[in-house]
Amino acid sequence: MTTKIKKYFVIGNPIDHSFSPKLHNYWLKENNINALYDKIKLDEDDLENFIKDIKQQKITGCNVTVPFKQAVIPFLDKLSPEAKQTRSVNTIIFKDGSLVGHNTDIVGFTKAIQGLSFNLRGKKVLILGAGGVVPSIIFALNKMGVSKIIVSNRTRQKAENLKNLFENLKTIEWGNIEYFDMIINATSLGLNNEKINLDFSNVGKNKLFYDVIYNPAETNFLKNAKKNGNLIENGKLMFVYQALEAFKLWHEVEPKISNEIFKLLEND
Ligand code: ATR
Repeated sequence: MTTKIKKYFVIGNPIDHSFSPKLHNYWLKENNINALYDKIKLDEDDLENFIKDIKQQKITGCNVTVPFKQAVIPFLDKLSPEAKQTRSVNTIIFKDGSLVGHNTDIVGFTKAIQGLSFNLRGKKVLILGAGGVVPSIIFALNKMGVSKIIVSNRTRQKAENLKNLFENLKTIEWGNIEYFDMIINATSLGLNNEKINLDFSNVGKNKLFYDVIYNPAETNFLKNAKKNGNLIENGKLMFVYQALEAFKLWHEVEPKISNEIFKLLEND
């Protein structure tokens, strides 16, 4: 008897840059799972039909990246509590006849931060950007017991909109800086070597500078922070852990994090 090969995708727009297929296909092979994982660029109009294909199990499951993490929600039957609270889905599974949206970015970010020697309890965090991944980061930071979260986004209204999801959020104008213990770059600035036009020379040392970007491994934001005596971390581990959690949801196997996978994710 031949079993049908399972098919998974990551959907987004743009999608070329995604490392998800490399990582998932490596783990699939390592765990002898008969499945394939590919990336596909969709337009918003394609979402409904794509998700219908999951309901009919022509496609087994998918990851969702920017800009569709919220847009997929109307087409799903159920949401995990985390996906519901962040209005953000990055993993879709088909379970007991229902399409279920999960958010594994939260656990990805949490595990990445827990691996650092930087306790966030009672600390102040400044987030730059208000795009697709920011609700998940705010959710995780609140769980870690930070005392204050400030969001600065070029389009201020998008930062303001986050207040519908989270209480106690403060927003400031793009270009301003407030005291912080940790700062997170969640903008796309740095993907193509752009500089963030903010002056961090007066913020002091020993802060944690975190960049969601991991390719390049050190954005200008992180390079300058290191020069000024701060701790730095990029988004690679967050990416790996969110993928690991999605893999567990689909295959009920915990894949290994090894040096091999970090080599795999080195810049092409
Ligand atoms: P999306 O906003 O579609 O979810 P994203 O990649 O998750 O996409 O988010 C991009 C983030 O980078 C946004 O916060 C964006 O700011 P706007 O909301 O004002 O668009 C930010 N960003 C992109 N280019 C920027 C630039 N040149 N200067 C400042 N912020 C920028």
